[in-house]
Amino acid sequence: MKKFEDILAQNDFSRDDLVRLLEAEGAERTALFSAAAARKEAVVGKKVYFRGLVEFSNECSKDCLYCGIRHSNSKVVRYEAADEDILAACRFAWENKFGSVVLQSGELSSTNFINRVDYLVKQIKALSNGGLGITLSCGEQTRETYERWFESGAHRYLLRIESSTRELYQKIHPNNDHHSFEKRLECLRLLKECGYQVGTGVMIGLPFQTTENLADDLLFLKSIDVDMVGMGPYIEHEDTPLYEFRHLIKSKQERFDLALRMVATLRLLMPDINIAAATALQAIDPAGREKAVKIGANIIMPNLTPSAFRKDYQLYEDKPCLDEDADQCRNCLEARIELAGSEIGYGEWGDSKHFERRKI
Ligand code: 5AD
Ligand code: FES
Repeated sequence: MKKFEDILAQNDFSRDDLVRLLEAEGAERTALFSAAAARKEAVVGKKVYFRGLVEFSNECSKDCLYCGIRHSNSKVVRYEAADEDILAACRFAWENKFGSVVLQSGELSSTNFINRVDYLVKQIKALSNGGLGITLSCGEQTRETYERWFESGAHRYLLRIESSTRELYQKIHPNNDHHSFEKRLECLRLLKECGYQVGTGVMIGLPFQTTENLADDLLFLKSIDVDMVGMGPYIEHEDTPLYEFRHLIKSKQERFDLALRMVATLRLLMPDINIAAATALQAIDPAGREKAVKIGANIIMPNLTPSAFRKDYQLYEDKPCLDEDADQCRNCLEARIELAGSEIGYGEWGDSKHFERRKI
């Protein structure tokens, strides 16, 4: 068997190597984390970039079996934030020198929704004289819609694959055309063709998921050559069908640890991409996001959703930051101090270095 240090010194990794890294414990785990931290600093530097997250609507046409705001969850109070509140949150981001904002919502495809996102993108560009970077996270859309939003000023798009193993994807989604694995892959291709910086990611610690599935996820991210990744622990939600399988999942602490090893391993596999410290980490450990930053992540998404709506955007249980509002952003302030080892890239877009290289 290969020595662990020899694997760490490689530039490329086989599926077996990745499984070894994902299962590292004790001294090996420490070695993985320090190798990933060193690689991050050498390739993307010490800076962490903020993306202010505005969850502007929880209306959703989909029924993903893990998600708290799925269409069939009738306990959810549905909302659509007013344009002026969304734009005020973006203005806050601009004034506080967050380089970018992320507009996220449930998935809708009505003309109304498409027009509204388009309007918001244009308004955000206008209020910041083109200065704020805009990321969209509004699900699967047609090529025309992706093109239109891009032309209006959005330049990054997040669409998680959730699991790159087709059988697992099918287990965690309803079995119908509206939840097709192929469509998801096709959308990721379209986004790239339209010129977006493309971000995707997976959930870690799902029922039925093996370490090999996670190794395949990492190989998938590499094979589609993504620019950005956001991935975090799966967290059960009582009002979802997947809750029934909670006896099959690892403890929260184990899922958290596995998520950190995924981040560190991905930093070794794709050193120049942007990796977000997922908010779901903080649902398990109050310092979760900062821990991810220390071992490989370089993006944090402070929540700027108007506080009245935060409790209605609970994708999973124990979602943090429900009581804060953007002004206080207490957790974020604390995070900044804890991040002492890193610098925050205030006023910078912090685009993925990988994307810059890919364009040349
Ligand atoms: N646990 C963890 N992450 C979740 N997401 C949705 N539901 C859950 C859950 N129960 C993630 C999905 C989605 C992103 C917006 O939130 O990966 O793409
Ligand atoms: Fe700022 Fe939670 S992210 S208060």
